[in-house]
Amino acid sequence: LLLLAVTFTYGLPSSKKRFDGNQVLRILPKSSDEILKIVDMGKKYNVDIWNIPKSLNSTLDIHVDAHNLKGFVAELKSLGTNYMTWIEDLQKLIENENVHSSHVKSRAAASFSLSHYHSSFQISNHLDAVALSSRYATVHTAGHSVQGRAIKYLKASQFRGSKKAIIIDGGIHAREWISTAVVMYLIDQLAMNPDNNPEITSMLQKFDWYLLPVMNPDGYEYSRTNNRMWRKNRATSHSITGTCTGVDLNRNFGFHWNPAIGGSRDECEETFAGTKAFSEPESRAVGHLMQSLRGQAIAYLNLHSYGQLWLWPWGYTTSLPSDLADLKHMAGRGAAAIYPSNHAHYTTGGDATDLYPAAGGADDFAKGGAGIKYSYTVELRDTGRHGFVLPASTIIPSGEETLKGIIAFASELYAYE
Ligand code: ARG
Ligand code: ZN
Repeated sequence: LLLLAVTFTYGLPSSKKRFDGNQVLRILPKSSDEILKIVDMGKKYNVDIWNIPKSLNSTLDIHVDAHNLKGFVAELKSLGTNYMTWIEDLQKLIENENVHSSHVKSRAAASFSLSHYHSSFQISNHLDAVALSSRYATVHTAGHSVQGRAIKYLKASQFRGSKKAIIIDGGIHAREWISTAVVMYLIDQLAMNPDNNPEITSMLQKFDWYLLPVMNPDGYEYSRTNNRMWRKNRATSHSITGTCTGVDLNRNFGFHWNPAIGGSRDECEETFAGTKAFSEPESRAVGHLMQSLRGQAIAYLNLHSYGQLWLWPWGYTTSLPSDLADLKHMAGRGAAAIYPSNHAHYTTGGDATDLYPAAGGADDFAKGGAGIKYSYTVELRDTGRHGFVLPASTIIPSGEETLKGIIAFASELYAYE
């Protein structure tokens, strides 16, 4: 009975991957050639690249398993690389992630804490609770994941009349938990307007809001129960050999889909693009939602972590969109509004030009495939101190600053368009 209780509450106890003694090394590369060498050498040690530098003088964060540390570090030294131990013990960070945060109640259900990370089941139930208690929010299902979980979203629309729509999603990458938690915060504010905040009332007058917290529920759940560092979905059907699981959903969208650009054809890689464009039900569901709002949706924000960046398309090419000036202008408004309030400094830039080229992204499809003009990737906190393992105590500040950025962005959009 005890085992059963443990199993239901936490998943099979023995299956949870541990990260004892694993470290994240922060490397300051001197040339792009050095980056390539390190990444290539890292394959031998099965390293997990957390963050690739967006320019020289910025850093490369690499997660290394405890038993590979010695070998990897020795090779870094022989390359003459500058590096430091950035995260001492990943397991400790993970164990502290969801504690030390006080309970901030949701307006829809006091038992749901906005300041903690939750299972996809709890989140799904909470969306229903929000739809029940809000006068102007409705809950919908965009589609189902590989394992059959509903991919739900909330539509918040306070006043009648035809309005432009803004779509915001989180959790496309399983381990980027803060993106899901921030969408839950946005839902609490936009769908419940708890403080009768006139700024939020005006947002609801101006736009219809589509808020989708967990694009990749299977991966998200797996990152909670089995492997905190999981990124992809949980598809296995792409392979007859069944060697590896998962497709990177942000390489799977069908606009200039191309695994050779920032993705991979190898199912065992972290950036496996799938067997073809939209091979995955999760990306298909969100792609359909975008297309069903063609002509109505004006903006799309695809939330990730980490890096504190507000990025415009394209990801598949370094060529720039013809309306770049408009895209830059709005991104600038959003990013600037985040900073003064919470001291989290956000930078703006282009996907391919300032981060790295990668085809098959949700943002590229939103713009190129569904005609959503103001389409962005927003990389939330932090800049690497905790990386993906952002303590729950920072959910509320992250939510507050993101909301401020979004309000400034949307206000300007309304005035301009
Ligand atoms: N970190 C994100 C990723 O690797 C960045 C995506 C930027 N957008 C793009 N279309 N490449 O998926
Ligand atoms: Zn991501």
